[in-house]
This record gives sequence, structure tokens and C-alpha cells, in this order.
Amino acid sequence: MNSKTRPRAARRTPSLRTLTLAVLLGSSAAASAQTTAPLPQLGKASLKEVLAALTPEEKVKLVVGMGFYPSGFPAGMLPPGDPGDDKIPEKVPGAAGRSHAIARLGIPSLTLSDGPAGVRIDAIRKGDSTKTFYATAFPVATLLASSWDTTLVYRVGVAFGSEVRAFGIDVLLGPGMNIHRNPLGGRNFEYYSEDPVVAGSMAAALVNGVESNGVGTSVKHFAVNNQEFNRMMLNSAVSERALREIYLKGFQLAVARSQPWTVMSSYNLVNGTYTSQSPDLLTTLLRQEWGFKGLVMTDWYGGKDPVAQLKAGNDLLMPGTAAQTQAILAALKSGQLTPAQLDANVTRVLELVLKSPTFKGAVYSSQPALKADAAVARQAAAESMVLLRNEAQALPLAAGRKVALFGNTSYNLIAGGTGSGDVNRAYTISPAQGLREAGFAVDATLTDAYGQYLRAEKAKLPKTKGLLDPAPVIAEMAPSDALVQQAQANDVALITIGRSAGEGGDRQVANDFDLTAAEQALLKQVSTAFRAQGKKVVVVLNVGGVVEVASWRSLADAILLAWQPGQEGGYALADVLSGKTNPSGKLATTFPMAYKDVPYASEFPGKALPGSTGTNNSLMGRPSANTYNEGIYVGYRYYNTFKVKPAYEFGYGLSYSSFTYGKLQLSAPTLAGKITASLSVTNSGKVAGKEVVQLYVHAPAGKLAKPESELKAFAKTGLLQPGQSQTLRFTLTAADVASYNTAAESWIADAGTYTVRAGGSSLAIKQTATFTVPKEVVVKKSRPLLVPQAPIAEMKAPAQAK
Ligand code: BGC
Repeated sequence: MNSKTRPRAARRTPSLRTLTLAVLLGSSAAASAQTTAPLPQLGKASLKEVLAALTPEEKVKLVVGMGFYPSGFPAGMLPPGDPGDDKIPEKVPGAAGRSHAIARLGIPSLTLSDGPAGVRIDAIRKGDSTKTFYATAFPVATLLASSWDTTLVYRVGVAFGSEVRAFGIDVLLGPGMNIHRNPLGGRNFEYYSEDPVVAGSMAAALVNGVESNGVGTSVKHFAVNNQEFNRMMLNSAVSERALREIYLKGFQLAVARSQPWTVMSSYNLVNGTYTSQSPDLLTTLLRQEWGFKGLVMTDWYGGKDPVAQLKAGNDLLMPGTAAQTQAILAALKSGQLTPAQLDANVTRVLELVLKSPTFKGAVYSSQPALKADAAVARQAAAESMVLLRNEAQALPLAAGRKVALFGNTSYNLIAGGTGSGDVNRAYTISPAQGLREAGFAVDATLTDAYGQYLRAEKAKLPKTKGLLDPAPVIAEMAPSDALVQQAQANDVALITIGRSAGEGGDRQVANDFDLTAAEQALLKQVSTAFRAQGKKVVVVLNVGGVVEVASWRSLADAILLAWQPGQEGGYALADVLSGKTNPSGKLATTFPMAYKDVPYASEFPGKALPGSTGTNNSLMGRPSANTYNEGIYVGYRYYNTFKVKPAYEFGYGLSYSSFTYGKLQLSAPTLAGKITASLSVTNSGKVAGKEVVQLYVHAPAGKLAKPESELKAFAKTGLLQPGQSQTLRFTLTAADVASYNTAAESWIADAGTYTVRAGGSSLAIKQTATFTVPKEVVVKKSRPLLVPQAPIAEMKAPAQAK
């Protein structure tokens, strides 16, 4: 913007209030406000000059967003933004947030939009009946992680980011990368894994892909946001070691490998401090120890004290409220917030603006390449589905088979989760449609019966009240015996089981983690009928999180975990069922035998604090706490160390082919700098396929107890033809095998012998090799950070074998 086009207001003399405040603060704003020299413009003048020209009020505007005015929230429920901001037309209707513009200095407003599985904006715009604004619903994060393929996830990111850019959005509010601590976490579908190496690798790949389009991401929710229960006031009490090794490690990897434009702090408190108000977390760890260069924003209305947030290094308060603006101005006046601190926050906002497509004047079409992106979504889904069971090669289905399709979601696929992780997509391909188009004959009588049932049930659903009030999942139809009997004429039965969850609530054990009575009855009824005729039964799990499988899996000949596969799910499913795509996904999260096997299962998701008033909910809720007594023993680190047999272990997944592993070779017998591990994988089966090789390390018993094994690296082969081999290489450094020793306040790789285990899952180890660390290596010295308020009684591992 040049001075000719500068709005009139820009030339007005500053208000008395501005001058008074500026003089009071001794800032240079007073001087620049009084001068008649041309105003410095962002991008042309130096940041220092722009900062000097900003009035204190303007600076405060830059660190507080423009408010949030979504439909579906009762009036007065959400705190208002600065007066008048709601009247300023949105650039992208339905985007979650905006930053303030300061037009006189050439600073535009940025647009921020959810979410982790696709751009979430309004598909229909008021006053524009000629166009739609649908975005691609990509598969959910948990599915993407099951690919164990960072190249694939990068490609998803590239397609995803092209839509962010096409819609004129500056920063995507994703990826989400909290740890799957407990299968009931309501937003687990938005997150990758129970393991930080998988989570960090996937997040980095997605960020790099999205940001290759010249748009930003916001890696969220930093950190320890593992449940929805009273999420805005829940204190997670976690040991420093578990924090560093489990809950923060993935973020650290993501920062190191992708340096995202922004990070979003979480709602919860960790060890007594809101994450958004924690200098330990946002400044010492994130910026100083890990070298993060970008901006930190709050989650929507997160935290309590805006001044403490700015001081902690939280630069942008989203979505922004008038109360925050007032509190920050008052703190400036009283000296509680220094101008230097505010300048540091503003500088990071301006640095973000400088990188943004809006600032660069990017032309946007609002017409993403939906067709091309759908193809990416389909491929990602097909390459990531996990084949859990395949007795007597029930799958793949031979071409042209007649399929009896049972289960509501066979006709009404659940593409993704709810809340801010949802996507307004143009369509969702159902399994029925996918199978039909792949040349299978889908039973028409069943299709009609389910169609009628679903239409009738949909009509009865209550009207939803907006984002955090999703429609309930329709109860499973109970087919009559006659309906099942007529379906027995088909070659095979396929039953889908569907689950939906999302922001606003955690899942339950009954009727959610565990199957409902209707689902169990359906499985029994169909399985008995089809098996009586020597016909096979395939179960497809269309779920966003883990469900119980052990009690019913024997009723199925094959189980395919399709997760929530995005809008192309039905096609992707048909690709795998038909064998067009050989399944190569593996679990990035454990399926336990029963919910009670999860460590501290009954303590999840926490409790309201004694004496706290209010109601439990995720919107505001009440002060609550949850203690992470399992420490570092999360997911397979727990099951494998404590010898609790899971139904399907971390890393597990079948293929239509089989693979043999050659000898695991290490580049050196001792670790000095780095060690390269390599091994060759051969497709020993009859069809082309891909194998994910996982590298676990069993550490020696040193000063600290160690999990039985920990994933340190992984790689996926290309498509190997029968008989074809590929050599995979991995590197290990002392940092990779170090643990966080709280007493020593350091990351330390203990001296001793380490066993490297290469396998197709955390339990299916095929090759091992050892190396030694002759002398303890202090990889990095830190200091006490995020210290628990009281010692945490963590569970102890059984004595470790040397
Ligand atoms: C969610 C975030 C989301 C934000 C904006 C919050 O309620 O926790 O993940 O990005 O809203 O929609």
C-alpha cells in the first residue's frame, strides 16, 4: 500500500489517549506519530522502523485476534472481540480466526483456518449462490500415521497446502500431534500416534508439504492435551522425564525437521501452569533449547491471563477478546508488561505477516484442484489401511464377487471426526459405491433396506447446535432374519462398524470403545449365517480411534481397519479389498485386549478438583486434574515392558504378501557420533507389496529404568515385486538413544550394550544386532523445567534384564 492509497484515518493526528500512553511508556511512537514524514510500510521499511511507528494501541491489536463470531453459539456465550471487529467482512467465511490489520503501516489481516484433515471453511457463502467452497476431506491423522510413509504424508501436505493457498488462507491450524495416551481421547483421530517418533515424523512431513505452498501451519496443541474433559481448566500432572521423552519429544522432532511457521499452545495446564502462560515451555524449551523461530498462538480462548501469555512467549492471542486488549493496555500503563516484551511479541507477528501469502499479494482462486487432491486422498487412504486379520486368505476378494454389505457405515461412511477437525466436503464415497464402481455386485435388497432405515433415522436426529454439538451416530440397524437369509445368496458378507468422535468430548467404554449390543448381535447373526454356507465374513472398522476387537474377532475371517479415510474412503476401501492396493499400513497405536488393560484406565480423563464448582464439559468446564502415573509407559512402552498382551500390537499390520529380512548390519560396533543400520527386505510372497520396517532399541539397564524397547527409526520399502529386494538404511545417534535423567537434568545415553531390533511390528522382531556405548554420553544439559507441583508416584517397571 503506498501513501496515496492510505486510508484517511492514517493521516489523522493521534488521539490524546494515544499520545498520553505513548509518552507514559516513553515509546518512540509519540515521536513518529507527530512527524509528517511518510509512514514506514511493512516490507519496505525495516521492522525496527515499523515497530517505532506503531502506537501502543496498534501493537496490542497485533497480538490480539479479531474475535470469533461463529453461528450456532448462543448470543453472549463467547466473549466479544474488540468493538466493531464483527462488522468487518471476513475474507474467508467460516475460517476460524483473523489477525488485525494496521492499514496505515501496510500490515494486512491474516486469515487462519482449521483444521488437520482439510481446510474447514463454509462451503456456502451468504449472498453467493453461484459458487461452492468445498475442500477436500483428506484421511484423518491416525490413518496417515498408519502409512508409516513420510513421503506419502508429505504429498498429502502438498495437496492440502495448495487448498489453503487457493482459498486465500495464510495459516492452517494443524497438524494436531498430541500423543494417543488413552484410546478414549475424543480427538485422537486428529493426532498421529502413541509414539513420539512417529508423531514427530508425520507432523514434520505434513508441515513441510503444506508449507511448500508458501502458507503456514500451526502445530498443535502444545502440549499434553490428551483429553477433552474440562480441557480449558484441566491440570495434567506429569513427571519431567515423561514430558521430555513422550509428550514433548514429538513436537521437538517436528520443530527440528520442519520449523513450522507457528505453534499453537494448548488449553490445559501442565504441572500447575497453563501451557499458554508457561515461559518454561514456550521460551526456554521451545525457543531456546529447540531453536523454534516462529510464532506461538493460543488455542481459542485458551489460558487465563493475557499478560502472562505474552510474557511467556505466546505472541498471538486467539481468537482475541476485548477484555484481553484492555488487560494488556492496562498492564502496559502500570508497567506490568514492558514495551520491550510487547515489541518482541509484535515482531514475531510481523515476521509471520511478512511471510504470508496475503502480505505478498497472492492471487487466490477459491477453486482448489479438487479432482487432483481427491486422488491424493484416495491413495493415502488405501496405502494406510491396516489389515488386522486375514484367515485363509479371505482377502482380497476376487473380481466381480457378489457382496452382502451390512452396517450403517457401508452406506454412510464416516469420513472424519467432528468439531474443528471436520471438513465441509462436497461428497463422501461410501463403501457401497466404492465396491460397485470397482466391479463388485453389491446386494440390492440390503442396499434398499439400509437406505430406507438411514433416511428414516436421519430425519429423527436432533438439530445440532453447531461445531461442538455433532449429530449422534445412528444406531446400528438390526436386519431381520429374512433379510440376512436372502443375502446369503451372495459370495461374501462385509460388515462395517462405525465410530465418530471429536472436539468437545471424550469417548466412553460402553457402546463406543466396546461394541454396542446391536453391533455384536449383527456380527453374530451374519457370521453364523454365512459361515454355515462356507462363506466368508469380512469386517471393516470405520473408526477414528481404537475399539475392542478381541471378544468378537473370531467371528470374522478378515478385519480391515479403514480408520476414517476421508471423502474418497469408499474407493480406497475397494482398492484394498480388491487387491488393487496391497495393504501396507501398520498400527501406530496399540489395540489392547480390553479397555481395562490401558494403564490407569479408570483414572482417565481425570477428576474435578475437590470443591470446584460448575459442570464438567469441554467448553469452559471446571478446574480438574489428571495425574500421569504411568510416566513414560505409554502405549507399547507399557504393554511390552509389563508383558500385557495386546490384541494387536503397535506396529502390527498384515499384507497380501510376505517379506523376509536379511541380516541387520551396523556400521560400527560402538557408537561414536552415529551408527548406520542397514538391512535388505525381500518380497517373498506372490504379489507386489510394501513393507514397513521398524527399528527398536533395547537399552541397557543403566541409572534409569527403560522400556522394553523404543522405536527409534522406521522406513517403508517401495513397491516390491515378488522376489524383489530393497536395502533400507537408518541412522542412530546418541541423542536417539538418550533418556532424560531428571536428577542430572540432562539427556544421557547410558554406557552399555544396546540391542537394535528390526521388525515388522514391536513384537515381530526379525533381526537384531548390538552396539555399545563405552562411556556415558551427556547429549544435552538442561535445567528443571515444568516441574511437578508435588512428586508423582509413577509406576515402576519390572526388574529389567541386562
Ligand atoms: C480447537 C483448535 C482449533 C480452534 C479454532 C479450538 O477449539 O481446540 O484445535 O484450531 O478451536 O477452531
